[in-house]
Amino acid sequence: MMNKQFDVLVIGAGPGGYIAAIRAAQLGFSVACCEFSSYDNPTGEPRLGGTCLNAGCIPLKALVASSEVYEKVSHHLEDHGVTVSGVSMDVVRMQKRKEDIVTKMTGGIQFLFRKNKITLLKGRGSFAGKTDAGYRINITGKEGNEEVLAQKVIIATGSKARHIPNVKVDNITICDNEGALKFTEAPKKLGVIGAGVIGLEVGSVWRRLGAEVTVLEVMPSFLSAADESVSREASKLFLKQGLHIKLGVRIGQAKETATGISIDYTDDQGSEHTLECEKLIVSVGRTPNTEKLNLETIGLQIDERGFIPVNDHCATAAPGVYAIGDVVRGPMLAHKAEDEGVMVAELIAGQKPHLDYNSMPWVIYTTPEIAWVGKTEQQLRAEGCDYKTGQFPFAANGRALGLGDAEGFVKMLADAKTDEILGVHIIGASASDLIAEAALAMEFKASSEDIARTCHPHPSLSEVVREAALAIEKRALNM
Ligand code: FAD
Ligand code: NAI
Repeated sequence: MMNKQFDVLVIGAGPGGYIAAIRAAQLGFSVACCEFSSYDNPTGEPRLGGTCLNAGCIPLKALVASSEVYEKVSHHLEDHGVTVSGVSMDVVRMQKRKEDIVTKMTGGIQFLFRKNKITLLKGRGSFAGKTDAGYRINITGKEGNEEVLAQKVIIATGSKARHIPNVKVDNITICDNEGALKFTEAPKKLGVIGAGVIGLEVGSVWRRLGAEVTVLEVMPSFLSAADESVSREASKLFLKQGLHIKLGVRIGQAKETATGISIDYTDDQGSEHTLECEKLIVSVGRTPNTEKLNLETIGLQIDERGFIPVNDHCATAAPGVYAIGDVVRGPMLAHKAEDEGVMVAELIAGQKPHLDYNSMPWVIYTTPEIAWVGKTEQQLRAEGCDYKTGQFPFAANGRALGLGDAEGFVKMLADAKTDEILGVHIIGASASDLIAEAALAMEFKASSEDIARTCHPHPSLSEVVREAALAIEKRALNM
């Protein structure tokens, strides 16, 4: 029997892979996408959407929302004149809601595949070599092996949690992102290794639901990727919320105890400690998935950090083979993976797309949210750039006060000579949505004056962004 042949085959159906497949299909190619992970699917069938939909962004944001509602109702309604009593939290129900959202969304991708006539190949894809007819890809699934041929291949195999020595993850007591999103009750005491994005988001979820959370971070500084003023403000606010963050620690041995886990660590002064907790989360970064791809059969090698080397257009050294998302350099973000997927599909179609990684936003879904785009103040200083700063607090904004969410600020950085916006940093309510205006402005190479002169709705949180732009020329109106 003849092998199935496709113009484009995508390996992995995460946000990078499934979006690349859809865009390639829109452009008229015959497209297949293979996926083997069933995640929690009771049928054992592969589920689409990758880490993002199944064990990352979407389930975590569902838990963030539920825990925020609980915290608000429990502690922040009195000011509104609302009295509630007998508030309780059904964590099992919260998890069911999260699961329902995930199931709905992964089903949505199945629908999009059918709509765009994308062939779903259920199984693990690996390279078997190249012939004149295209790349030979083995698909190994539950029902056995199938070899297909593709002219172009997009590798979008994503990443998995990195683990550390002496802390064995079982995803019951010691958990990475997979187990940490599945607790059926809030632990009384929770330990978190790594004060990065997952540590802060997941730690905050369980803190809101009543856990005493201690975060152990190896670096001596807190949130060093964020702007220094934002990190300082975040550190102050998280401490006030009761999140214990210990910096500059060295992690030792984790041991099972009668009530959970004990973890030894050395603090920044060299003193030794033991943290006793019911559950421990390991969130120390992620490593790219390249095992079993047989990259060597097409002459590809991974770099020293495990990533597949690519150029600015995500092309690998093998002609017609591209790699996108978490498996290549750059931030491990779903929207970065998606945009690379679109770019590669358009390149294959002969278009000339371009991605500006500097205008890709970052968001951390804590309370309040943190979001930024472009350069931080410390980066600009290190580059010797001449810049201006404008900052405006949410506390001076009527909408923020009305909402009862008036912590934080917007900080804008612009070139001292040209006034081009170089970075925008937000800590405050709805930062994840507000940052989109800043990303758009940077994509258009806008000046701070462009934002300052744009009429913003009143009363709205977006006025804080405009006031930060006005503050660059020291002419904020409401302060
Ligand atoms: P993935 O989503 O990892 O998908 C890759 C897919 O390929 C997987 O389903 C895998 O099973 C499959 N695969 C691997 N090898 C093969 C093979 N050989 N054959 C077939 N299939 C294969 N990012 C954000 O932007 N915002 C967030 O809020 C956010 N929250 C997150 C929360 C958590 C807890 C985690 C862990 C991550 C979060 N991320 C977030 C990061 C985001 O999930 C990733 O950046 C994104 O999923 C990367 O997309 P991808 O397509 O490259 O890879
Ligand atoms: P991370 O890179 O954000 O943070 C890892 C943290 O662990 C760092 O602060 C690091 O210094 C620390 N660390 C490393 N080794 C350690 C050790 N041995 N002991 C103690 N601390 C140690 O990685 P994280 O949180 O695991 O998230 C993985 C990726 O997922 C992130 O890179 C991010 O891109 C993505 N993500 C994005 C989200 C978002 O966009 N809102 C949410 C969650 C994850």
